[in-house]
Amino acid sequence: MPASAATRLTDHYRAYARLLPWRAPPGAERADPYRVWLSEVMLQQTTVATVIPRFLRFVERWPSIAALAAAPDDEVLGEWAGLGYYARARNLIACARQVAALGAFPDTEAGLRALPGIGDYTAAAIAAIAFGRDTVPIDTNVDRVVARLHATSNKAAIRAAAAAMVPAGQAGDFAQAMMDLGATICRPRGPDCAACPLSEDCRALALGCPGTFPVKLPRKVRPVRFGVAHWIERESAVWLVRRPTKGLLGGMAALPGSEWGDTPVNAPALAEVRHGFTHFELRLSVVARAAPEGEGWWQSIDRLDESGLPTLYRRAIDAVLDRRNQLAA
Ligand code: ADE
Repeated sequence: MPASAATRLTDHYRAYARLLPWRAPPGAERADPYRVWLSEVMLQQTTVATVIPRFLRFVERWPSIAALAAAPDDEVLGEWAGLGYYARARNLIACARQVAALGAFPDTEAGLRALPGIGDYTAAAIAAIAFGRDTVPIDTNVDRVVARLHATSNKAAIRAAAAAMVPAGQAGDFAQAMMDLGATICRPRGPDCAACPLSEDCRALALGCPGTFPVKLPRKVRPVRFGVAHWIERESAVWLVRRPTKGLLGGMAALPGSEWGDTPVNAPALAEVRHGFTHFELRLSVVARAAPEGEGWWQSIDRLDESGLPTLYRRAIDAVLDRRNQLAA
């Protein structure tokens, strides 16, 4: 009987798996959930090559979730510097403390997804790799592999086909095999089909155009609007206001600032964020100001989570704190 695509893939992984410090070798005991979680969060927007030394430093300093949960925020944020978004480090700390209070990581996808900073992809990755749950994390690499295998760009079809491939009891190796295949062989441009264990199964290769999947849909072009938000800081607190009840983000907490308009902002900014609303894209420049005007309140930077800030302003504040962190590093 010919081996299934999944078997060919996991056999290939056993022979060629990348040795990464958060991984258990293929076929071995499962990896430590703490290390799997930490690596997945670090890898959310940073490359494997950058993550490896940072991961090793992190686990040397805090070898367990309990150690990390007990660390002061400043030390964790300092160790995170350069790894991108401050929001991720903030979620990392919150997640470590929640898991330490629980006593252990939840071992189901749903339980993991309920933790701060863990979305669908990360929950599936930890569930498969650390707990052997039969699920498959779909990132851009896995999406590309399955799109080519079935010559489709339909996301629902890709999700269903990926789930159907998971070999029972080997979800962790399968997930990491898919990640490695996407990163090293089934590359976005110039896939190395001659080296691919799935080449005989690949519909896109049979069609002669593996590199064209998944087809990218053209992005809708939205009009751009511009705005200024004021950064007013005093004694580790930032000045917030409540937006008018009518209009976008009505009644929500916000940084104070100008109305949004069609003219680009020309002031020196601490940070700029782009945020997509349904009908336009906003470019919000965060500009330093000395003193507040009108009604508002001082919100402790340590307790921003309690302010109910919508994503736009949370991202704007994180961008300022990120910049500051990078300059301090
Ligand atoms: N990218 C995201 N998660 C990964 C993992 N566990 N191994 C390699 N690359 C990854």
